[in-house]
Amino acid sequence: MKTIGYAIVGTGYFGAELGRIIKEQDGARVSAVLDPENTASIAAELGCEVETDLDALCARSDVDAVIVATPNYLHKEPVLCAARRKKHVFCEKPIALCYADCDEMVRTCHENGVIFMAGHVMNFFRGVRHAKQLIADGKIGDVLYIHSARNGWEEPQPAVSWKKVRAKSGGHLYHHIHEVDCIQFLMGHATEVTMTGGNVAHRGDNFGDEDDMLFILMEFGNNTYAVVEYGSAFHYPEHYVLIQGTKGYIRLDMCNAGMTVKTMDGGEERYLLHDSREEDDQRTCIYHSTEMDGAIQYGHPGKKPPLWLHGIMKKEIKFFNSVMHGGPISEEFKPLITGEAARAAIATADAATLSLREHRKVKVTEIM
Ligand SMILES: NC(=O)c1ccc[n+]([C@@H]2O[C@H](COP(=O)([O-])OP(=O)(O)OC[C@H]3O[C@@H](n4cnc5c(N)ncnc54)[C@H](O)[C@@H]3O)[C@@H](O)[C@H]2O)c1
Repeated sequence: MKTIGYAIVGTGYFGAELGRIIKEQDGARVSAVLDPENTASIAAELGCEVETDLDALCARSDVDAVIVATPNYLHKEPVLCAARRKKHVFCEKPIALCYADCDEMVRTCHENGVIFMAGHVMNFFRGVRHAKQLIADGKIGDVLYIHSARNGWEEPQPAVSWKKVRAKSGGHLYHHIHEVDCIQFLMGHATEVTMTGGNVAHRGDNFGDEDDMLFILMEFGNNTYAVVEYGSAFHYPEHYVLIQGTKGYIRLDMCNAGMTVKTMDGGEERYLLHDSREEDDQRTCIYHSTEMDGAIQYGHPGKKPPLWLHGIMKKEIKFFNSVMHGGPISEEFKPLITGEAARAAIATADAATLSLREHRKVKVTEIM
């Protein structure tokens, strides 16, 4: 088996863990890392070299693929550089903070004949895969509506992370693009979007400038709908995806981790959200602990992801590494490795942003 050489750009919370996971894969090695601040210990741990110049990193002959895990507003340059050097790309979500950038990144990868996989982790949740299968089997009939919420309450912060600054993270909608992508993975692409909301309770030096309350209505053009709530101005925390069908429902609950399926002809069935009871229970504990910060457990350099997230990252990297080795790609995962899913998610997010700004319903075709 050929060994694929990986480089990692951005070795903070996520990039470092992706590196550790790559190191464990068959036919994979981390050749080099680049990060202006956090490379010394992770390079030693991964047994790889440190590069300080992006183009030099992408030009290395022992690098076949580049993992981009920089802050959200700094994804574009490394993705374009890697693609132009004919290196495959795995880029963390959100791919970009506007459609034009996302489109340029996807097109550049396509023109250079390289894979462009988006780090949309929810596609790898056991519960999401299970829900998709049950929907395909007709278990809940036709999907009419999805309601998703990712809400909590943010206390004053001693230091404001880039994750809370709109120009750097994109705010809740872009930073947590997972739910929008998951809905589009299950229902297809939205055609029209309406968003309202604002910053209702988090102004001042101890907070970023993102909107802390967002309500998004997605329409799919065939009399089906989705509503997503995001924010850190909700004292009652919720994090779920509820799929309503003509014959029943499926609820994926991230707070009390688990999946519930109810059909007209049967009772309620309970399944795991992640791969083991331990992962589900640990996630439930985290949501009910003081580790939470605005419904989101934000990571930072040096911190390690929880068990359930590590498990998902492992699946994601196993899949990417298998694609690098010429492994099979099912139809449903093609949009994830061509950048199509990323482009569709950012188009919907941009339509929502325009809707909020102009106080009107926006067709997604206005963005694309
Ligand atoms: N899929 C998920 O569930 C998930 C979870 C967390 C983070 N992420 C994504 O991963 C990415 C990184 O987030 P994080 O939590 O690791 O943030 P982080 O702040 O912990 O790490 C970011 C790292 O990038 C480095 N960096 C900054 N500018 C750079 C540059 N120009 N070139 C190279 N490195 C640079 C920083 O020094 C830092 O080490 C983000 O896009 C984030 O949205 C995804």
